[in-house]
Amino acid sequence: MNVTIVGTGYVGLVTGACLAELGNNVFCLDVDQAKIGLLNAGGMPIHEPGLQEIIQRNVEEGRLTFSTDAAASVAFADLHFIAVGTPPDEDGSADLKYVLAAARQIGRHMEGFKVIVDKSTVPVGTAEKVAAVVREELAQRRRDDIAFSVASNPEFLKEGAAIDDFMRPDRIVLGVEDDERGERALAMLRELYRPFNRNHERTRVMDVRSAEFTKYAANAMLATRISFMNELANLADRVGADIELVRQGIGSDPRIGYSFLYAGTGYGGSCFPKDVDALCRTAQEHGLPLQVLDAVQRVNHAQKQVLLEKVWHQFGKRLAGRTFAVWGLAFKPGTDDMREAPSRSIIRALLQAGARVRAHDPVAQEQAARALALDLQDQPQLLANVTFVAKPMDAVADADALVVLTEWKNYKSPNLRALREAMRSPLVLDGRNLYEPHAMAAAGITYMGIGRSNLA
Ligand code: UGA
Repeated sequence: MNVTIVGTGYVGLVTGACLAELGNNVFCLDVDQAKIGLLNAGGMPIHEPGLQEIIQRNVEEGRLTFSTDAAASVAFADLHFIAVGTPPDEDGSADLKYVLAAARQIGRHMEGFKVIVDKSTVPVGTAEKVAAVVREELAQRRRDDIAFSVASNPEFLKEGAAIDDFMRPDRIVLGVEDDERGERALAMLRELYRPFNRNHERTRVMDVRSAEFTKYAANAMLATRISFMNELANLADRVGADIELVRQGIGSDPRIGYSFLYAGTGYGGSCFPKDVDALCRTAQEHGLPLQVLDAVQRVNHAQKQVLLEKVWHQFGKRLAGRTFAVWGLAFKPGTDDMREAPSRSIIRALLQAGARVRAHDPVAQEQAARALALDLQDQPQLLANVTFVAKPMDAVADADALVVLTEWKNYKSPNLRALREAMRSPLVLDGRNLYEPHAMAAAGITYMGIGRSNLA
């Protein structure tokens, strides 16, 4: 099939590349000339394992095109995915200006039946807004005779595992209109996703509003599990229990399951904070504030401070003359994404307290330097106190403490003896619960995890 993807951000790029890999012809459109130029030159705007290879292969084989030509993108296909960003506006609601601009463009150029699919995470009711702007454009062109249908097909990709998530989906949610055009849209989408339904049917067909809601509900549920565990972890610290053992104890119940029960420094990234906030706003607008989800946000906000509390407890609030090693900067492993990464607020606070920071991340150092410069634009002199090092062990030499903030694989089994000998005082503050407290104790290292009965 021919498919157009509007937006070459994270979702658009992965969707476009994977659909081409399945044998479709894919036209990826973006307004950002520089990004399209980079992609056409074989470069990659994001770090995502496996993506570059897929893009390269499909460009070479002629199934994948990147362009800024809107008219050509509309002529190319009858199936259009809108995968542009929905940044939060001032009050935290999702800002739909890019989504609606993409829809307007399709309305401006379309000459025959189109299916317009919202892939971006958009609030309930967005498909109707998309339909309204397309109708407006068609009316202006006096082409109300052209039919179209707007569908919702939210994505559930995780950064760092996006290719696998796309190629092996556990469900494909399709929200379509309940009319003849909706039927046509559904037939096209079923055809597109047919390769994923060979062994068993993964498609969940529903009305458009429910599909839009499903995406928020999924992220809200996952964020809730995390905040719930983080809150319990803090209590575990107080009562002398180990949240890791508790996690295993409850995860073995199939009604609970093991996923997303890891206590840590709070969830980050471009999705959970933004989507939870947007859903809370929607609820407020409808006069039905979501009390659980409001608390999820508050807990997450506070959780970003928990490691710092342990630092203050250990060293006091003045850190002049102290050096902190930081392992992990990205909001999670497998990505260089620094959006809402806990490392940002933690490093900023350490620098503001007078400390020096020596940081390592396998892929996110460049992005981290940019993010920190932004966060410290009022105190740029503090940036001189942070250095990025090539190897994890380079960070710990003579450090007063090691702070672990992202669970990259290469941090999981350090040589504890070397670690103890390299540090000025052997203290590990583990924001990801990567290590075993007794192994640390045996190696002579003071260890503080999250919720591992190390009161701070
Ligand atoms: C999340 C969802 O998992 C995807 O299904 C969804 O498609 C995506 O948002 C989106 O809406 O686009 P992502 O943001 O890539 O994906 O990252 P996750 O792996 O879900 O992690 C989110 C945050 O939660 C990270 O900061 C992670 O460290 C934290 N987390 C995750 C925990 O603190 N504990 C856990 O047990 C799991």
